Amino acid sequence: MSDASLTFDVPFVLGMMRLSDSYELSDPVRLADWLEARLDEGLTWFDHADIYGKRSGEILFGQALKQRPALKSRVKVVTKADIVLPALDSSRFGVKHYDTSASYLGSAIDASLSRLGVERLDHFLLHRPDPLMDVEATARALDDAIDAGKIGAAGVSNFLPEQWRRLQRGMQHRLEAHQLQLSLARPAPLFDGLFDALLNDGQTPMAWSPLGGGSVFEDILGSALTHLAQEAGVSRAGLALAWLRRIPGNPVPVIGTLKDKRLRALAQEGPLNIDRVTWFALLEEARSQRVA
Ligand SMILES: NC(=O)c1ccc[n+]([C@@H]2O[C@H](COP(=O)([O-])OP(=O)(O)OC[C@H]3O[C@@H](n4cnc5c(N)ncnc54)[C@H](OP(=O)(O)O)[C@@H]3O)[C@@H](O)[C@H]2O)c1
Repeated sequence: MSDASLTFDVPFVLGMMRLSDSYELSDPVRLADWLEARLDEGLTWFDHADIYGKRSGEILFGQALKQRPALKSRVKVVTKADIVLPALDSSRFGVKHYDTSASYLGSAIDASLSRLGVERLDHFLLHRPDPLMDVEATARALDDAIDAGKIGAAGVSNFLPEQWRRLQRGMQHRLEAHQLQLSLARPAPLFDGLFDALLNDGQTPMAWSPLGGGSVFEDILGSALTHLAQEAGVSRAGLALAWLRRIPGNPVPVIGTLKDKRLRALAQEGPLNIDRVTWFALLEEARSQRVA
């Protein structure tokens, strides 16, 4: 990434998808305390989407920053848009759909800036590929938002190579971040060419649900993680994140827990390194099949 201020210089990004479900963090003062604690630990990146909590995730975050304005210059935000939830579709269909039209994206960027109360969305991602995307118009909307300083960089999430390449061809600026579902619970992108394609195209990988939403702790994989983590004297979650970070290109995990104790343990285990054979042994357990 050319602009150093856009680099994910953290052991993990803090995912905000579950923020609006948290009773403890529903109060802006308590959320401001929580944010300050994270920032003091060096955890500066927060991953939002307009749909999280039907917009209330971004609203809560913005209220906390308003409570403690000194935090504003310390936080870095990623947010995403293009998914329209049924409840927010004013048409007679009330249907979930994607919208990458220039007018929709322009309004979505302004609305996220206003809800979060920040000067810039450091990374703005298209949340899902839209089969009706008008490449030229979408590309121009993203370029214009960068040129206007509203977003630091544009990126994508859940796109296939030909989908992002079509968009990239229309853009002046480079697509920077790429958020994909990648974990021990979902290692497929390492074998179907997706991960290599995004590295080849110079995108920065962000791994969403890096613990499979908690599913890596279940069944055979869960037992293997427990056993190996005990042996190494580390936590199971720390080991699962170390498995991800061992992948060339250093995908940055976007984790979901908001619990202080878990976050502190994971931050401490950030430098944990695993060797090649441990990596493959975990892969075998994850896929329940021998490496070919
Ligand atoms: N781009 C996309 O399309 C997309 C899609 C989904 C998510 N995301 C992003 O990815 C983020 C993370 O998603 P996720 O919540 O599914 O991620 P995750 O980190 O894989 O899973 C979090 C879940 O694991 C549980 N967990 C159990 N033991 C844990 C431990 N020891 N340490 C940490 N967590 C533990 C957490 O429980 P507790 O909460 O009780 O700690 C939580 O329910 C979201 O917040 C969002 O920002 C992006």
